Amino acid sequence: MRRLIPDPGQTTVSEQLEAYRPWEEARGERPLVGMNFAATVDGRATIDGRSGPIGSKTDTEMLVGLRKRFEAVMIGAGTMRVERYGPMEPLMVLVSGRLDLPWDAPLFSKAGEEVVVFTASEAEPPETAATVEVVRHEGAVNLREALGYLRRERGIRALLSEGGPHLHAQMQADGLVDDLFLTIAPKLSGGGAPRIVEGSLPGVAGLELAWLLEEDGELFARYRRP
Ligand SMILES: NC(=O)c1ccc[n+]([C@@H]2O[C@H](COP(=O)([O-])OP(=O)(O)OC[C@H]3O[C@@H](n4cnc5c(N)ncnc54)[C@H](OP(=O)(O)O)[C@@H]3O)[C@@H](O)[C@H]2O)c1
Repeated sequence: MRRLIPDPGQTTVSEQLEAYRPWEEARGERPLVGMNFAATVDGRATIDGRSGPIGSKTDTEMLVGLRKRFEAVMIGAGTMRVERYGPMEPLMVLVSGRLDLPWDAPLFSKAGEEVVVFTASEAEPPETAATVEVVRHEGAVNLREALGYLRRERGIRALLSEGGPHLHAQMQADGLVDDLFLTIAPKLSGGGAPRIVEGSLPGVAGLELAWLLEEDGELFARYRRP
């Protein structure tokens, strides 16, 4: 893979991520937040309803590598319903309005696994092999408060969100995304598939390009919120 910005030259996913130390940059009362998306050139976040067909093997390698640099991974209920996550090393965090989650997914099936679910629902989760902590907010999940809770109660210094587009829009609107990792696959998909931000923002958010990598026409960007 080539690094185009900064310091052009050859690199690898692991070499590039080695120097990235988000846990050293907790934002006081909340963790540093990274957001990861893979998109087509037309900004679409899904092909046939899934994110899998967008990126290459290197994109998967980047995602797996990024997870190792963060202490928690957060996703919205919509992404969990479609992608049915399994257990992973960082603490898994879900955001759900209705608590309508795929409770038979691999994530909930592993004894000893811990999951934190922020929800606006009064419903009780079913018994699962994984230990599920439910944190309730009124009306909707206040994402800034949820991040504060993870920092305070779980000691999380760096959290990677993997979307989806609706959760992403709210986190951007609330100014809660510090680093946006965006893979742009050399593909056009068209149609009505969601884009990486689905929801309005209070204004146009300017971003700084912190790095840009390329392999086989696929671009791996890291944007920073100034
Ligand atoms: N290309 C990529 O990198 C990528 C990444 C992630 C996802 N995706 C794709 O995106 C699609 C899912 O998109 P999506 O936008 O529907 O999913 P999403 O953002 O993961 O989930 C939306 C859901 O999250 C819950 N939620 C979000 N903010 C909330 C808040 N403040 N309070 C309470 N609940 C909140 C709600 O859950 P309830 O429904 O429970 O109320 C809402 O319906 C999937 O097809 C997935 O494959 C692509």
